Amino acid sequence: MTMAETYQTPDGRTIGGQVMEMKNITLRFGGVKAITDISFDIREGEIRAIIGPNGAGKSSMLNVMNGFYHPQEGEVWFHGKKRGPMKPHQIAKQGIARTFQNIALFSGMSTLDNIMTGRLTHMNTGILKQAMWWGPAEKEETENREVVEKVIDFLEIQTIRKTPVGRLPYGLQKRVELGRALAAEPKLLLLDEPMAGMNVEEKEDMSRFILDVNDEFGTTIALIEHDMGVVMDIADRVVVMDYGKKIGDGSPDEVRNNQDVIDAYLGVAHD
Ligand SMILES: Nc1ncnc2c1ncn2[C@@H]1O[C@H](COP(=O)(O)OP(=O)(O)OP(=O)(O)O)[C@@H](O)[C@H]1O
Ligand SMILES: [Mg+2]
Repeated sequence: MTMAETYQTPDGRTIGGQVMEMKNITLRFGGVKAITDISFDIREGEIRAIIGPNGAGKSSMLNVMNGFYHPQEGEVWFHGKKRGPMKPHQIAKQGIARTFQNIALFSGMSTLDNIMTGRLTHMNTGILKQAMWWGPAEKEETENREVVEKVIDFLEIQTIRKTPVGRLPYGLQKRVELGRALAAEPKLLLLDEPMAGMNVEEKEDMSRFILDVNDEFGTTIALIEHDMGVVMDIADRVVVMDYGKKIGDGSPDEVRNNQDVIDAYLGVAHD
């Protein structure tokens, strides 16, 4: 597949050109090679899954994708530009939002306030002006509130808007974390095991929200997920990692029938 090509999904969506391209990425932590020479792309409007056994390097890959880790070798291309090392404020401003494998919310703060923190990257007005309630700050505040209310409606969490998130069941905390990421209005959304620890019903809800985000906002999504049923249901294409290497890449059906992938999951000894 070349950069200009688009493709049609079985459910009739058109997937566009490359949003992100990872070229020969190698990432080391001291002597540990977390990622070895991996290449793949992410296309506009697609839901791209990254799967693989524990320790395969999946979370590290998300950190390379959002620029939090800078790989020792290889290149990351984002919206047609090669990306160099970035400062934290640059990382925050690229239009990439993510959720974490272990929930990272302010547990004493309400659902509403946690989701509001997702707007931080959009706040341009300084604290002093905000305190003085000058025009631009007021306009910005109104806009931020509107986006947050839209997210709360979208995720159907009106009833818990005032609840400190530490008191919420795990499944709802994961939903609030998705809400915080959505509040940033990302072009690319990275989800690190959004359904881990959930029961079947919660997984179904989360799957539906992910599909709806993609469908209604046109958000491109990359997600790490262990539940193969979920991956088969919602992903357009799947990257499979094992011990830091890429061992498969293709449609859910293609990777499911790939012998290397089957062996990795069955724990066949590696040579
Ligand atoms: N910050 C770090 N410092 C040192 N080593 C790390 C760091 N982060 C990850 N690693 C190592 O890199 C490898 C890949 O870890 P990573 O968390 O990316 O895997 P994963 O596929 O997300 O696993 P899991 O399914 O368990 O979440 C592991 O060997 C891990 O110990
Ligand atoms: Mg991980």
